[in-house]
Amino acid sequence: MLDAPNSRQPRNSLRLQTQAKALRTVHTLTELKDALTWAQNHALAVLPLGEGSNVVLQPQLNALVLVIKLLGREKLNETDGHVTLRIGAGENWHALVTWSLEQGYYGLENLALIPGTVGAAPIQNIGAYGCELAPFVTAVHSRYCRDGSALSLSREECGFGYRDSVFKQRLADQLVITHVDLQLAKQPAVNTQYPALQSAIEAAGQANNATPQNVYDAVVALRRARLPDPAIEPNAGSFFKNPVVPQDLAVALQQQYPGIPVFPVNQQQRKLAAAWLIEQAGWKGQRLGGVGIHSGHALVLVNYGANSGPAILALAAKIQASVAQKFAVQLEIEPRIYGALA
Ligand code: FAD
Ligand code: EPU
Repeated sequence: MLDAPNSRQPRNSLRLQTQAKALRTVHTLTELKDALTWAQNHALAVLPLGEGSNVVLQPQLNALVLVIKLLGREKLNETDGHVTLRIGAGENWHALVTWSLEQGYYGLENLALIPGTVGAAPIQNIGAYGCELAPFVTAVHSRYCRDGSALSLSREECGFGYRDSVFKQRLADQLVITHVDLQLAKQPAVNTQYPALQSAIEAAGQANNATPQNVYDAVVALRRARLPDPAIEPNAGSFFKNPVVPQDLAVALQQQYPGIPVFPVNQQQRKLAAAWLIEQAGWKGQRLGGVGIHSGHALVLVNYGANSGPAILALAAKIQASVAQKFAVQLEIEPRIYGALA
């Protein structure tokens, strides 16, 4: 019933070496139920994984790792204006974005080329280029790890925020997401507000007539130019969240550092660019042993051969300490950290 637990191929985009107590790939709801029962009987925690592009895995995982491969794209409902789809958690996110555009279902273009699965997308409410997953979600369907019982949540119940949801808070590590319902538009409408995207669309002469396909192409090109490919330089995307700070602190920093990027959040809070803070603290392109900060984007930590969770986390701690000392800002790690030292 179990897959080989010691597979030599790391199942995470940072390519960190880790050993789980057990591992199973789940293709159906029946297999999922069996696996959850098996974990209960062996008193093991359950760790659902999609494509491992947002995790830092420590050397020992005292858990049953479930690789979620539940597939399927089902049309639940269609009106003149919208279509509602039920997507299996194991579907690849970017493949879904590409397919939905081909079908004439619009809205997801700004989220093209984000690695990972549909089931992981609600966990941190994936976002990019001025868009987040949240507004498209009508429901998230799941099973409790403890007994396999079903739980479906509406968008409101998901508690989505910036890189946040109920799945990282009150319900953290309790559920396996099986399907996500998404409502997409049948009339094309584009969102090109994000500055880098707007510049790219303008440069292509599409400022007044950009199509969803134009936005998709521009986002794919921007991402390829800016972010390292994990297959070549193992990474987990942004390693830290962009910090949300009190307005007073943002104003004080602007006075001291006139070039600092500051983005509005609400009347009391502002968002800073973690990449800028890290670059100004002198970390961009630095290496420490077998890990380092990418020379093209200061928010991306890369495993250059250390292959170890502790090495990456030690570098992250040094960056956090130096940014806190220079700017009085605490950076929060974005990927989820699992496991224990050997
Ligand atoms: P995994 O890494 O396998 O898991 C992530 C978390 O979700 C874990 O806590 C895991 O337990 C949980 N999980 C996974 N599947 C399930 C399930 N079915 N049920 C319950 N829990 C589950 N993110 C963005 O938001 N925006 C970006 O622009 C972006 N760019 C990236 C660029 C690169 C190069 C990389 C490597 C990552 C980037 N990310 C980005 C992060 C990542 O793509 C997303 O977080 C993605 O949703 C992770 O999907 P995954 O299947 O790999 O999840
Ligand atoms: N910047 C620097 N130095 C760098 C890189 C960027 O100073 O090395 C500055 C830029 O000049 C810009 C600002 O930082 O002013 C923001 O940079 P960018 O547009 O590249 O976006 P980001 O804030 O670093 C966020 C998300 C990404 C997402 C992009 C595009 C977070 C933590 N990260 O990055 O998401 O793809 O915007 O929307 O919110 C991820 O979550 O893994 C991820 C890659």
